[in-house]
Amino acid sequence: MLLRYPGGKSRLLSNIIPYITDLIKDNENILSYCEPFLGSGSIAFNVLKKDNYIKKVILNDKDYALSCLWNTVLFNFEELEQKILDYKPSVVDFFHFKEVLTRRDEVLREEDPVSISLKKIAIHQMSYSGLGVMAGGPIGGKKQNSNYNISCRWNPENIVKKFKKIRLILCKYDILENNIYSLDYKEIIEKANKHTFMYLDPPYYIKGKDMYMCGFDDNEHYLLSQILKESEAKWILSYDDCDYIRNLYKWANMEGFRAKYYIKTIRNKKEILIFSPNTSQ
Ligand SMILES: C[S@@+](CC[C@H](N)C(=O)[O-])C[C@H]1O[C@@H](n2cnc3c(N)ncnc32)[C@H](O)[C@@H]1O
Repeated sequence: MLLRYPGGKSRLLSNIIPYITDLIKDNENILSYCEPFLGSGSIAFNVLKKDNYIKKVILNDKDYALSCLWNTVLFNFEELEQKILDYKPSVVDFFHFKEVLTRRDEVLREEDPVSISLKKIAIHQMSYSGLGVMAGGPIGGKKQNSNYNISCRWNPENIVKKFKKIRLILCKYDILENNIYSLDYKEIIEKANKHTFMYLDPPYYIKGKDMYMCGFDDNEHYLLSQILKESEAKWILSYDDCDYIRNLYKWANMEGFRAKYYIKTIRNKKEILIFSPNTSQ
């Protein structure tokens, strides 16, 4: 895993990555790759490391600290690298970082981006289940009297190595406006056209609100489905498998696999993949 992050797609990698990489590789008309919900980039960075015809990359996550981290990895890594190597996790920092990273965006944007980036990496490594600011406390608890302590997932050399790899992968591409955006997904989907492939991984329907600073309500899930209906891009969407989402995309199920869209269940994983009408299977 590149960065401990809730909903990172490690369980789905072997299903999604070969599908997307083949689709992109076999299709000379796909010239840009877009992820409106980048998170830890577990799909994007694994897809983009393979050979393809992609020229432009459009990446985004509304969580400002996360976009700040990816921009720093890309454009100002030396400074961040030293901070990672020098850093030692502590319970005091966990709560301090949580306080800073949950400030309103306008206030957070006044902080030094490299220092936000370090806080973002560290809080995910120090927290239960990688939940970051959404975790109640650090690994090992406030008193640090468990078998696992707050530093058990802090391996600075390894973290630096992973970020260097990501940087090398992204350097091959033209990143749109040299920015990994922190916008609302709607503004990002607008940038996609018929030559774009999009992978979309919005917050889960059932647990999403407890997992991310930026969550989705029912209306937002609905809006996403409407926007995707209109999009010219080729796309794949992943979700937790639940009735609400199946209903939202039930037009997909009605005509089965020959339909314009379809839903495929990955057995035992309780996740669904939804494909755009113009992605041939
Ligand atoms: C399921 S996670 C993505 C996980 C990602 N695929 C990975 O590999 O780590 C969903 C992401 O959507 C982001 N998000 C939530 N609301 C958003 C919005 N309105 N626009 C863009 N991103 C949003 C969250 O910050 C979160 O990182």
